[in-house]
Amino acid sequence: MTAQSPAQHAPGADAATTPWWRDAVVYQVYPRSFADADGDGMGDLPGITAHLPHLRDLGVDALWLSPFFTSPQRDGGYDVADYCDVDPRFGSLADADELIASAHAMGLKVIVDIVPNHSSSEHELFQQALAAGPGSPERDMYVFADGRGEHGELPPNNWTSIFHGEAWTRITEADGTPGQWYLHIFDTSQPDWNWQNPRVHALFRDVLRFWLDRGADGFRVDVAHGMVKPEGLPDAAVNAEGLLDIPEGEVPIYFDNDGVLEIYREWRPILDSYEGERMMVLEAWIPEHRLPLYIGPEEAHQSFNFGFLQATWGVETMRAAIEKPLALADAVGAPTTWVLSNHDVIRHATRYGFPPGYRFGEGLGRAETPDAALGLARARAATLLMLSLPGAAYLYQGEELGLPEVAEIPDALREDPAHLRAGVPGRDGCRVPLPWRADAPAYGFSPTGESWLPQPEEFGALAADAQEGVPGSTLEMYRAAIALRREHGLGRPDAPVEFLEDLPEGLLGLVRGEVVVLVNTSEQELPLPAGPDGLDLADAEVLVGSAEPVPGRLPADAAVWLRRR
Ligand code: NOJ
Repeated sequence: MTAQSPAQHAPGADAATTPWWRDAVVYQVYPRSFADADGDGMGDLPGITAHLPHLRDLGVDALWLSPFFTSPQRDGGYDVADYCDVDPRFGSLADADELIASAHAMGLKVIVDIVPNHSSSEHELFQQALAAGPGSPERDMYVFADGRGEHGELPPNNWTSIFHGEAWTRITEADGTPGQWYLHIFDTSQPDWNWQNPRVHALFRDVLRFWLDRGADGFRVDVAHGMVKPEGLPDAAVNAEGLLDIPEGEVPIYFDNDGVLEIYREWRPILDSYEGERMMVLEAWIPEHRLPLYIGPEEAHQSFNFGFLQATWGVETMRAAIEKPLALADAVGAPTTWVLSNHDVIRHATRYGFPPGYRFGEGLGRAETPDAALGLARARAATLLMLSLPGAAYLYQGEELGLPEVAEIPDALREDPAHLRAGVPGRDGCRVPLPWRADAPAYGFSPTGESWLPQPEEFGALAADAQEGVPGSTLEMYRAAIALRREHGLGRPDAPVEFLEDLPEGLLGLVRGEVVVLVNTSEQELPLPAGPDGLDLADAEVLVGSAEPVPGRLPADAAVWLRRR
């Protein structure tokens, strides 16, 4: 069988001038759950610093730190009480400086999470806003409004929170009377900033400079499509059940308003004024056609592409999830990003253990039992596919160990506000502390054996030290693939992505320069097909595979990188 007329995609960029973030492998650290140095059962900055060699040896280019700022931790730190200080649970500013310096000394860039849509209700400016009266400059820092109804007893509009329930909370004024309402698109403890107010703009410009001055190489922008609300705070359309009516592929009325683009145009010159290539990556869940507005030389550098993460297992779905963003990358003139897991979604080693098309809820319920071996096999294959693609790849801590989502966390220990507000399992299952050592208390997460969420027994066999140096382990597969990706320039856009056509059913194939990538999505082992130009791939060198190699064949649910000879 020959590969005919491969489809080509080659987002234009001069390889010689490629800034680091365009093809970087970035590793997301969720500080609470990475490594605990002081033994209180909660991860911390010194724990991260101590484990930087793990990231260096994995071969990543950068780490992205989820929030470690002062916070009551009502949403895992995405409720910030002081943007320019470190929460005592995680350490001190000196620990942050040391972490950044140590990472830089190892050649690792550091991306800091910035949360500009909302603060914590414990932020001193929110406390001042509560204390000052309606119409005061203090209150104008946040989105306050009078209620509807005769006595203002109804919320100002019908918006609902991403974490369920109303998006408004009524306050009691300083004199004890029922008062105004404040907007919180997320938890009640996360009041939205008022981005109509120039003082909010000034505050965040200072926050950016604060971390840039301390050496941050970039920012991951939380809810990057959320800050600016529609003029007049109008009601949203609702469906027959009274729920917000959001057409497929669209977003709620309070997201993706054009005003947010101005914020990036304001921030970009600040980043550009610093030495080095400081960058912003947006967490923007927006319709695809809107992406080109957010990314550009005057806006943000890149945005997470969540389509690949959402694609179900299969040739057509995964190919489409590659082709679409590549075409968009052409349109915006910047390479795309790839993500399979993060701290908000069910880990991909578990997602793939369910039949394609399985309808997941918010988190994994105890009664939902994946095929764990199948999930891990497909997750490893999907990872090899992702790491072969041009653009930046974002990894989430623990995926290099093949960690599954943990379903059996007792409800009383769950902390996700979505769980607390609505009873859904929520996101704690992907936030369980990492296993470093198979035979240590808390699997080496903490010296005292404490762990803010219980780790399941299966974490022992998946611990980093149990996989280190073990051929075929998930950790060694990640290390090999990341090294090969660099060696063969796979992240760079210069070599086009050429899909192999007319492959046997269930086989996805693409070519990147001298590397041929094959993914067997079928349930049968398949013979290796002919490669580009009729090349016999059975004769090609195996660079890395996700499964035990079988000469001339590709096992079911597996991927392989081959070098054309
Ligand atoms: C997105 C973050 O990734 C998530 O963890 C958080 O709950 C929301 N934004 C609100 O900040």
